[in-house]
Amino acid sequence: MIIALPKGRIANEVLKIFEKIFNEKFEFENRKLILKKAGFTFLNVRNWDVATYVEKQAADIGVVGFDVITELNSNVLELLDLGIGKCRVSVGGIKGDDSYKNKTEIVVATKLKNIAKNYFSKKGIPTQVIKLNGSIELAPLVGLCDVIVDIVETGNTLRENGLEEKEVIFHSSARVIANKNSFLTKKEEILDLVEKIRKANGS
Ligand code: PRP
Repeated sequence: MIIALPKGRIANEVLKIFEKIFNEKFEFENRKLILKKAGFTFLNVRNWDVATYVEKQAADIGVVGFDVITELNSNVLELLDLGIGKCRVSVGGIKGDDSYKNKTEIVVATKLKNIAKNYFSKKGIPTQVIKLNGSIELAPLVGLCDVIVDIVETGNTLRENGLEEKEVIFHSSARVIANKNSFLTKKEEILDLVEKIRKANGS
């Protein structure tokens, strides 16, 4: 079974769960992108690419943030909420300034273009969405946008930059996802592993 993990903290936490289940060390060696152990092949993938690897069946299962599968509208099965990597996807803006609410069109800067578009269009509010790739909090400070749509974890980045959370769009956490074909052909194996993960993780 091939498992795509998002590089960094979440991958380490998931590998710890495997250590607990199989009582062996699971660790990517220096800069290696593939780890083979106990009959599993783990892929060290960038967060935003996990859903793509799983959707295209380069991996059977994967772990990825709910925010990512929502933004990409990924055609995968969601099997388990791990309850780690918790964050919110929120509208943020300059502290104390709610003037965006009175605008006929709101300019929104974000990495999460589809989420932002859907959120405001459901509310019937016209928006111009500007796609950025990071440091989103900078945009309202220099007048690039009225508000941002971004991930909020501790809220520190907003606070440190004189911004505040205005509206919570949804809560996110890391999910175990599966490729739809793999789930048909390896159903027992996948469900058995997911159950072991659930027990070891207490989720
Ligand atoms: C994310 C997110 C916020 C920050 C939120 O950015 O886009 O900027 O973390 O975390 P906090 O609420 O705990 O401060 P990331 O660190 O991934 O970098 P980026 O800005 O380059 O996307």
